[in-house]
Amino acid sequence: SAANIGVVGLAVMGSNLARNLASREGNTVAVYNRSREKTDALVAEHPEAGFIPSFSYEEFAASLTTPRTAIIMVKAGRGTDAVIDELVKVFEPGDIIVDGGNAYFPDTIRREKAVRETGINFVGAGISGGEEGALNGPSIMPGGSDESWVTLGPILTSIAAVAEGEPCVTHIGHNGAGHFVKMVHNGIEYADMQLIAEAYDLIRRGTGKTPAEIADIFTDWNGGELESYLIEITAEVLRQIDAETGKPLVDVILDQAGAKGTGAWTVQTALSLGVPVSGIAEATFARSLSSHPEQRRVAAALPGPDSTFEVDDVDAFVEDVRQALFASKIIAYSQGFDEIRAGAEEYDWSIDLGAVAKIWRAGCIIRAQFLNRIADAYAEEPGLPVLATAPYFADSIARGQGAWRRVVVAAAQAGIPAPAFSSSLAYYDGIRADRLPAALVQGQRDFFGAHTYKRIDKPGTFHTDWSGDRTESEAEDTH
Ligand code: 6PG
Repeated sequence: SAANIGVVGLAVMGSNLARNLASREGNTVAVYNRSREKTDALVAEHPEAGFIPSFSYEEFAASLTTPRTAIIMVKAGRGTDAVIDELVKVFEPGDIIVDGGNAYFPDTIRREKAVRETGINFVGAGISGGEEGALNGPSIMPGGSDESWVTLGPILTSIAAVAEGEPCVTHIGHNGAGHFVKMVHNGIEYADMQLIAEAYDLIRRGTGKTPAEIADIFTDWNGGELESYLIEITAEVLRQIDAETGKPLVDVILDQAGAKGTGAWTVQTALSLGVPVSGIAEATFARSLSSHPEQRRVAAALPGPDSTFEVDDVDAFVEDVRQALFASKIIAYSQGFDEIRAGAEEYDWSIDLGAVAKIWRAGCIIRAQFLNRIADAYAEEPGLPVLATAPYFADSIARGQGAWRRVVVAAAQAGIPAPAFSSSLAYYDGIRADRLPAALVQGQRDFFGAHTYKRIDKPGTFHTDWSGDRTESEAEDTH
């Protein structure tokens, strides 16, 4: 036994992670794949990595020093359970099984509980950054026990991306905490992408600029507060010309967005936690809406506004859209961090929100300078209830809200869908409202279902006898 870390599952993500591990001082990497060909190919193509190949789980376990540590890199789902079952048979108490896939966090909680009974540690670790990140430095979000972190911490730190000298990995919390945080990362990723797409659409349809011209705008924006990987790659996508037709590639790509489920999980979880992640939800639904061509075909006959969309001052409009994008982005992140806070409370994880922001500064898909501001906000006030109220964000929104409102109005008048822009603004106006029409909703609920209400002027729970003499009486709290 000579390897300090093993990787099971050698598709692109697994191979790249194995190569990343092997390239770091002090690591020797054992590799295993269900079909032998992938193992042979990886070992043959990368002699420099010094991989220790194995062709059975017994051999794999025997090639690892104790405590044995293995990272599973297979497609999330039943395949993960199958590999865990095999590893449990050949591993011993104290060993560590890591799931590096995009698992749904309740599955991770379930697996951790089951594996723990064998004395083996199970760690669900979110890994972000795609193929390139896996190879050169991802952002890693591990959950699991403190005991496993002792062994795993240095190994993951050796391969993680580095932001301003700090590794983009931290022990997020117990059992499913890592996969929970990775899930929310993906939800925020959906919102970020949708907001950028709406900005592009508004500029294109409002000003008639070409994709290449809009690419230049994004490149320009990337030099300011919007600086991020997603803005950067957006410019590249918009600049791309299709070799076959000579058209901008974005005009040739079918406008139906796919999704592998992590955005939907973020929204489902938020619904059960009662956290309004409206930006993420709209982004997820925007993908769903796009993917129903049969509905879109019949709905195309529906009328739009009479007026045509004309922008007088193009530069001013582009600047408005930039500010609307930034304000909406702040809301999306504020909502995402709210979900992490609520999840931590519900599942009893002690998650350091500032540390989460820090490990997202590099390696992952939503990486951006902006995350420094979030880390600062939580450093200033760890219990911050609404991220958007931190001074830097509140000031930015105060400066940009005029533009934000103009853009949402323009979109509505022009008949251009901007669901993420407009729902973020509605959230902003909702959360800052002095009084909400929720009072009326409570009245309605009490009317038809005797669901009771509370009063602003005295404690207790009340019901009005709506079908009788309409007098109010104290009632039992039914929520
Ligand atoms: C990452 C990405 C990665 C993957 C998403 C894509 O953090 O590296 O989020 O996990 O690209 O799952 O999700 P969709 O296919 O749902 O867009």
